[in-house]
Amino acid sequence: MVLNSKPTHTGVGLEILGLEPERGISSEQADCLRKLWLDAGVLVLRGVGTSPEVLLAVSRCFGELEPHPIEQFRLAGYPELILLSNEHGLTGPVYEFEGVATYGRIPWHTDLAFATTPNAGAVLRMVSRSEHGGQTAWIDTAMAWEALDTELKRRIDGLEAKYIFSPDLEGMRFNKPEGRLLSGMQHQLPDYPPVAHPLVWVHPETGRHVLNLSTLNIQSILGLEEDDSDALIQTLIDHTLQPRFQYTHEWQNNDIIVWDNYRTMHMAWGHPANETRIVQRSTIRGTTKMGRELTAPGGRAPDEPL
Ligand code: SIN
Repeated sequence: MVLNSKPTHTGVGLEILGLEPERGISSEQADCLRKLWLDAGVLVLRGVGTSPEVLLAVSRCFGELEPHPIEQFRLAGYPELILLSNEHGLTGPVYEFEGVATYGRIPWHTDLAFATTPNAGAVLRMVSRSEHGGQTAWIDTAMAWEALDTELKRRIDGLEAKYIFSPDLEGMRFNKPEGRLLSGMQHQLPDYPPVAHPLVWVHPETGRHVLNLSTLNIQSILGLEEDDSDALIQTLIDHTLQPRFQYTHEWQNNDIIVWDNYRTMHMAWGHPANETRIVQRSTIRGTTKMGRELTAPGGRAPDEPL
């Protein structure tokens, strides 16, 4: 290995040691990063993300980058980077959680779970952390799948679930955080039709089985009665959200984290709306079609119960 690494304190993901991207990333180091990313699902690079250029250089080790379809979200001058910031006003929803007006909370999700071709991964760079909160957490959904008992693995193999686009928490059917909406999304977002995906993905590169649960988006399992579908989804979510499958990152400025989007769910904890937090992000394009659009009236699959 041309790079050293060590497991994070929970054993989910790897911390990369000794990479100095400001001095350039060799092709051997890039290959090594990509291999470790596919092996571990989450890579933590502490303190090295000193500029958008470094974020781009690190991100390009993992694949082609995908500009955000909505131009307002892009970082000016860097079409392949997204800016997540409340520095110049609040553009996303604000919720009151336990008496605190909170910005940037995004419950457990897989990016583009509501699309037929999810992205392969993403990279975050912390530009300016908030004083309180603001953690990001990841779940290794391959580890969660492996830990299921054989009977449950057999039962869910071949099932498909319905996922919807959720610009805020209102559409969530499972594990919706208890909070009061104070102000909604300020951007006009496109509408996306619901999709069906296998409940168990086969990772397009590693072939590993992965639980595909994206709590922000999942609605039901196709072909099951609502009670059975709800109970099975809740069982799988309760299993997957166990702390033993999680890594939560306490950010310092200039930390970079890369994740494999097929093999993880992530969650942004959010932070007090009156504290500034600035993050830059890239998205690694996915090219594998994992799901299909549900085009029947009402967004139901033809075989889905009313
Ligand atoms: C994201 O889900 O990309 C945002 C994560 C964060 O802001 O911590």
